[in-house]
Amino acid sequence: MNIAVVGTGYVGLVTGVTLSDIGHNVTCIDIDKEKVEIMKKGTSPLYEPGLSELMNKNIKQSRLFFTTNHAEGFANAEVIYIAVGTPENEDGSANLAYVEQVAKDIAQYVVQDLIVVTKSTVPVGTNHKIKTIITENLVNNIKFEVVSNPEFLKEGSAIKDSFEGDRIVIGADSSEASAIIEKINQPFGVPVFRTDVRSAEMIKYASNAFLATKISFINEISNICDRVEANVEDVAKGMGMDKRIGPDFLKAGLGYGGSCFPKDTKALIQIAGNVHYDFQLLKGVVNVNRKQQRMIIEKLLERMPDIKGKRIAVLGLSFKPNTDDMREAASIVVTNSLIDRGAEVIAYDPIAMNNAKKILAPEVEYSTSVKGAINESDAVLILTEWDEIKDIDLNFFSEMKYPLVVDGRNCFDLETMREHHIEYHSVGRPSISCQFEKTYA
Ligand code: UDX
Repeated sequence: MNIAVVGTGYVGLVTGVTLSDIGHNVTCIDIDKEKVEIMKKGTSPLYEPGLSELMNKNIKQSRLFFTTNHAEGFANAEVIYIAVGTPENEDGSANLAYVEQVAKDIAQYVVQDLIVVTKSTVPVGTNHKIKTIITENLVNNIKFEVVSNPEFLKEGSAIKDSFEGDRIVIGADSSEASAIIEKINQPFGVPVFRTDVRSAEMIKYASNAFLATKISFINEISNICDRVEANVEDVAKGMGMDKRIGPDFLKAGLGYGGSCFPKDTKALIQIAGNVHYDFQLLKGVVNVNRKQQRMIIEKLLERMPDIKGKRIAVLGLSFKPNTDDMREAASIVVTNSLIDRGAEVIAYDPIAMNNAKKILAPEVEYSTSVKGAINESDAVLILTEWDEIKDIDLNFFSEMKYPLVVDGRNCFDLETMREHHIEYHSVGRPSISCQFEKTYA
């Protein structure tokens, strides 16, 4: 099929590249000229394992194209995917300005019958709104259908998720349109669930809200474990063995960040509010998450009440490992709080430092290595569980003036930290004190 994808952010680019990889002719459209030039050369503007390789392969096989020109991109399109951003408005609702603009562009430039597929995460009812906008602005006399096809990819494993996802959800008013979209996706080999448009829109929000709820739930349990000296990892393991609960998304830590959960949970609260429903549970989930990002500072202050002038190493800045995405990362809240309290912050991340420099406070210093960050620091905070951080040489800690590590992601085994004489505070697990000749200065 001839496909156009509008928007080459995370969702759009991965969608376009993987659709070309299963044999479709795909043109990705973006208004950012510089970005389009980079992508034409086969370089991904975002860090995603395997994405540049797949781009190169499909560009070489003349199945994947990039343009800034809508008329050119839409010329042969039988299907157009809308994959532009729906950022958060100040009140938490989703900003639909970009989606609505694409609907107008489609109305202006399409020259043949087609199906419009919405990948962007949009509030219930938006696909019908898109249909109205296109109908009202249509220049040529063509027929079209609008289909909801929400995205469930995880950053850092998006390519794998495309081919090994749990389901592809297709919401349509027309069974012909949903059959065509199902056929397009068939080579992915992922189970398809067909439903109506509104239910498909809701599945996306409900899924993300549920996963966020699991995370906030286990984080609350971890805070109780801290107080009753239980181990949250064993608690999660024991809970997860119940098939009704399942083992995934029960990892206690510094809460959820990223481009989806924070935005989509708040948007669903708004969606509910618009129909006069008070989604109390989800409000709790959002509040717990806000509190949880600050938990690591509280743990540090319990041990080191005055951090003014202290040098604090912060390891891991992206919102999760294997991505350079800094959106809603705990590192933003944590480094701001350290700086507000007068601490010196020396930060390290394997991939996200360039993005971090644009977002974190200018006072934050950066180290080119884990060891460099730890050296001479008074305490180490771990915010993201990158493999490089989990595989750290523990002697780096032992060689500190005093080995104090506060780990927001439970990267290390308690017994190993004890053996290395490191004072170690983690999430929902007993603390390890330092039985070493060094004393806390
Ligand atoms: C998420 C959804 O998983 C995906 O289906 C949706 O399309 C987009 O949002 P993503 O944001 O890429 O994907 O990351 P994910 O791996 O789900 O993690 C989100 C956040 O939750 C991260 O900050 C992560 O650290 C945190 N998390 C996840 C936990 O704290 N504990 C867990 O057990 C799992």
